[in-house]
Amino acid sequence: MKRLITLRINGIDEEIYAEPWWPLSRVLRDELNLIGTKEGCEAGHCGACTVLIDGKAVMSCLYLAIKARGKDIATIEGLQGNDGALHPIQKAFIEHFAVQCGYCTPGMIMTAKALLDENPNPTEQEVREGLNGNVCRCTGYTKIVDAILSCGGKPKN
Ligand code: FES
Ligand code: FES
Repeated sequence: MKRLITLRINGIDEEIYAEPWWPLSRVLRDELNLIGTKEGCEAGHCGACTVLIDGKAVMSCLYLAIKARGKDIATIEGLQGNDGALHPIQKAFIEHFAVQCGYCTPGMIMTAKALLDENPNPTEQEVREGLNGNVCRCTGYTKIVDAILSCGGKPKN
């Protein structure tokens, strides 16, 4: 049976009626129209659904929405500044041509955000290890890694 839950998403409290078994990805996309978060495998294999929960990268297809009550959830929609400016990581992905079909991109960027927040100047090896839960079928990863490395030492908002 659905129950009313409150989730704090991108700094805003959202009230949703959700089944206890619904994954967070479903609530974000189907109930709140935050479709920047993608669903690929829905089984924890691709990373397309990655969001931040209390600053940590989490696969939202495996995370129950009800478990996210009381936590800070960040999605790709929340990354841009109040003036609409893209986040430096988003800009870096564009500048380094790190996007092709774009399906993996929101998950990649959220994973990169968590990585850079924890380690502002990662090595290439650390970036590659940090991305090991995110699959890209298009880019061959090099441009994604370059984009993230280019953010080293810059403010991350
Ligand atoms: S959709 Fe969540 S890991 Fe693939
Ligand atoms: S850009 Fe197409 S899956 Fe990564």
